[in-house]
Amino acid sequence: MLPLFFASLFLLRLLNQLPLSHSLIEPQHHHQELQTLLLPNQCNEKCGRIDHIPFPFHLNTSCGSVPFSAFHLSCQNFTTLFLNIGSESYRVLEFFSDGVLVDFPGLSSCRQYNDLHSFSFAKNDNFAVSVDNVIGLYDCEDSSLCKAECETIDLPGCDGSDGGTGCCYPLSDHSIWHVGEGFSGFSKFGCRGFSSWAVLRGSNSGKRGVKLEWAIPRNLSSGACAGNADIVNATAVQAGVRCLCEDGFVGNGFANGAGCLKSCIKDGQEVYGSDCYTKGHGERKAIIIAGVLATVFIIASLIAIFYLLKRPVKQGKYDPDKGYFHSTVSFRKACTTRLFAYHELDQATKGFEEAQKLVDSSNGTIYAGVLGDGLHVAVHKLQCDNERDLLQVLSQIEVLSAVQHRNMARLLGCCIDSGYNPLVLYEYPANGTLEEHLHQRREHSISLDWYKRLHIAAETASVLAFLQYEISPPIFHHHLKSGYIFLDQDFSVKIAGFGLLSSSLRNGADLYNSYEGSCCLHKNDVYDMGMLLLEIIAGSNHLDMPTVALQKMRSGKLEEIVDPLLYYHEQPPFRREQIEIVADLATRCFLFGADGKLGMIDVARELVHITKESIDGGSKRVPALEETFSNSSLLQMISMSPDSIYVP
Ligand SMILES: *[C@@H]1O[C@H](CO)[C@@H](O)[C@H](O)[C@H]1NC(C)=O
Ligand SMILES: *[C@@H]1O[C@H](CO)[C@@H](O)[C@H](O)[C@H]1NC(C)=O
Ligand SMILES: *[C@@H]1O[C@H](CO)[C@@H](O)[C@H](O)[C@H]1NC(C)=O
Ligand SMILES: *[C@@H]1O[C@H](CO)[C@@H](O)[C@H](O)[C@H]1NC(C)=O
Repeated sequence: MLPLFFASLFLLRLLNQLPLSHSLIEPQHHHQELQTLLLPNQCNEKCGRIDHIPFPFHLNTSCGSVPFSAFHLSCQNFTTLFLNIGSESYRVLEFFSDGVLVDFPGLSSCRQYNDLHSFSFAKNDNFAVSVDNVIGLYDCEDSSLCKAECETIDLPGCDGSDGGTGCCYPLSDHSIWHVGEGFSGFSKFGCRGFSSWAVLRGSNSGKRGVKLEWAIPRNLSSGACAGNADIVNATAVQAGVRCLCEDGFVGNGFANGAGCLKSCIKDGQEVYGSDCYTKGHGERKAIIIAGVLATVFIIASLIAIFYLLKRPVKQGKYDPDKGYFHSTVSFRKACTTRLFAYHELDQATKGFEEAQKLVDSSNGTIYAGVLGDGLHVAVHKLQCDNERDLLQVLSQIEVLSAVQHRNMARLLGCCIDSGYNPLVLYEYPANGTLEEHLHQRREHSISLDWYKRLHIAAETASVLAFLQYEISPPIFHHHLKSGYIFLDQDFSVKIAGFGLLSSSLRNGADLYNSYEGSCCLHKNDVYDMGMLLLEIIAGSNHLDMPTVALQKMRSGKLEEIVDPLLYYHEQPPFRREQIEIVADLATRCFLFGADGKLGMIDVARELVHITKESIDGGSKRVPALEETFSNSSLLQMISMSPDSIYVP
């Protein structure tokens, strides 16, 4: 029941706006609250600048309960706390509700990078290296483990300024490091040093040090949790558990500790424990009123949506002034990106004039336009047949706009004033589309040399591989073609025109028909990538006859289809060879792409490899390319991560 879904969304929004206890609604928030509300242990112990030592940590053994002796700390010179594990002493930097941040052992001052063997602890019954750590690695022989998160997380150096680590690996990635392991596994990458930061979930900045998660063994936990607390499994400590207060309560949750205190909002401030129970009528009244209001709202929105959806909408033609969806809050809310008004886009595209058309396919039409503030945009007009389609498109927009990658065209927003023709806005960069350049359709279009073409192919495959392999759930383009590949001023790829509607996927009259004889009923992004590679090699030459082109390629007459603008016969042998390799890759995309034997990651890897070779082996050096590739490894290129990811 979609309306019901929206109504409940709406209710959540409404509740959010009321000053009710947020711990009732957002568990995430609740956890963050806990981070700052670490209640002192029974003895209210302190050491140096740490005002109180939270349960279960303690200095005096009689302040902790017997089975938890692992949490005994020492306070040296009244200034510095140390945690002893085995024979090693770790300086305590900070406490978290689920862990403790410690320094590298044996160091009295901060060191930018440490030896890979300097932190040998991995786990015991009470502590384990937390998945919240992000590892910075220095000067690795094999940088395939590097993730691009480093650029978006603030990882301070020793002096507090930007640590500027070139390579980082978040332990939450789990591909190389696994829960329960220490850091020794990283030594096989030949790095010369490493450092570590704790980056708490939902935060964008790191704190230097190694976060150790703490827990108590499950077999010792019976009766450990206070009332109003649940027992939860630890993440990294094997067979370890902690107590966690139920929603609406705060504290450490342990019967031996502070237990759980009721949390509530009084006069706009969060208060705890007994303060909640005094003169609480006002709050309760507010909650009841809010509940009644919310119910009325749900019913009203249900009725509104019901009538709205029942309303016949003429397809293809719509009255912009009427705005079928103007009145529904729910639809408006569904578009979480910026909402544009129809007349704004009508103006920008000169009334959706034919001359503004960039691409026209079963996947809708893209128009170029200029907004009132001078921003160049591409407006993708989609055709939905019913409200289900429309909702699907809106939810896909939300997914897409949450992903940022330097080779994705920025999604600016959408417009839903136009009935069943939602409009999606992308930023439209300076150099138009790849199609315009290959077909010399653009005014002053420059012919793309082989390097540029190769670079464009490699970037395209890389971003598609990224979307497919690093985003969960994976994002597929579904309609890859040269018209959807925008080029910025450096001829860097900005991909757009994603297929947002599964019902239109693959049933339209696609420009290219299947490669003769072979299967390919089920075409996919890899197959389309093959088509794109062919187009990059052939330019406008033979484009209408891919079958012919492929036959020629198979019978060794590749030169007959190569774009004349590439001057095949004047190219040095290594470059001709590259063109052949790419042609061969295109063929393999057709043959093995559809059944998954050749993945986008393989295509990206090969293209990046060829591009890199062409820099190393080529006599002619292209500065832009060199800049892009010389500092990074192949895999880094392939897994170029986005500026930020948020997958709802
Ligand atoms: C530890 O706590 C006990 C009881 O509270 C107290 O008698 C004792 O002096 C404390 N020891 C230290 C070293 O503070
Ligand atoms: C404690 O003080 C002694 C003497 O002043 C000093 O040598 C030692 O390094 C100090 N320890 C810590 C952990 O600060
Ligand atoms: C609890 O389990 C651990 C292993 O998981 C074991 O070493 C220990 O002896 C157990 N303790 C008790 C009291 O059963
Ligand atoms: C916690 O771990 C135990 C033992 O591995 C398992 O049976 C239980 O389902 C886990 N609980 C949760 C909430 O994952």
